[in-house]
Amino acid sequence: MKHLLKLSDLTKDEILSILNLADQLKYERKNGIHKDYLKGKKLGMIFQKASTRTRVSFEVGMYELGGYPLFLSSNDLQIGRGEPVQDTARVLSRYLDAIMIRTFAQQEVEDLAKYGSIPIINGLTDYAHPCQVLADLMTIREVKGSFRGLKMAFVGDGNNMANSLIVGAIKMGMSFAIACPEGYEPDAELIKWAKENGDFTITSCVEEAVKDADVVYTDVWASMGQEGEKQKREQAFAGFQVNKQYLSVAKSDVMVLHCLPAHRGEEITDEVFEEHASEIFEEAENRLHAQKAVLVKLLKN
Ligand code: CP
Ligand code: NVA
Repeated sequence: MKHLLKLSDLTKDEILSILNLADQLKYERKNGIHKDYLKGKKLGMIFQKASTRTRVSFEVGMYELGGYPLFLSSNDLQIGRGEPVQDTARVLSRYLDAIMIRTFAQQEVEDLAKYGSIPIINGLTDYAHPCQVLADLMTIREVKGSFRGLKMAFVGDGNNMANSLIVGAIKMGMSFAIACPEGYEPDAELIKWAKENGDFTITSCVEEAVKDADVVYTDVWASMGQEGEKQKREQAFAGFQVNKQYLSVAKSDVMVLHCLPAHRGEEITDEVFEEHASEIFEEAENRLHAQKAVLVKLLKN
């Protein structure tokens, strides 16, 4: 593994190996075992969108591994004034050991990898959020013990989260069902891939998707960059909500996950969110462990 640009670049074994290392790093942290796996390594973190979890977990993670994180807001970089990503990649490759980037176009992340000479990590694009899904898979395995025979249901927008969850779930052998309104489907090529490689359902009926699910996942109706579509989306997504009524057709021990930030009363009710808060915040914590594992895999000599 040279980069983490999107989950479809990784094999099942590579994903499992990251999850195993993440479990180990979580255990070490909980038991006060400190090892400088990445002593002296420098990670640049470019943010063209807001972030709470990704920024703090990468920054703390790098520090805990003995390395040095640099927060690079695009407002302050020349990239924000139009310096091409090809040039930024070649310059930063000479100072840093790896770059994490959160941006809009997936192509920008791919270009950083193409023109730079250091590992690139996708910290969210409009297309994918692989770091989040590694933490989600880690959380599912912690709670359920394995992925065997599990069904994941996603309710809402066929966005970056849906795209990456489809790949993660199908690669791990889970079945996947998404309920989304017409016109808000996930990436067409990914749907085709999922149908060819696993048990995949797409429907506009929330009940059908959630039926017998072991894991129910949702995300915001309007993602970062779509603020102008808020009203239109509120209409389109009305009813695409994780609530008690829909959860009653899932398995009785269903897990509810949310990448956060959550909009209570929109994609999820406050009641369901609070009932599943321990899972959701464990999921958020696991961002730290999963990303530390990615960093070690990419950077340890
Ligand atoms: N889930 C997630 O990526 O959160 P942030 O936007 O706060 O980084
Ligand atoms: N789909 C959301 C995920 C946030 C972590 C967004 O892109 O804003």
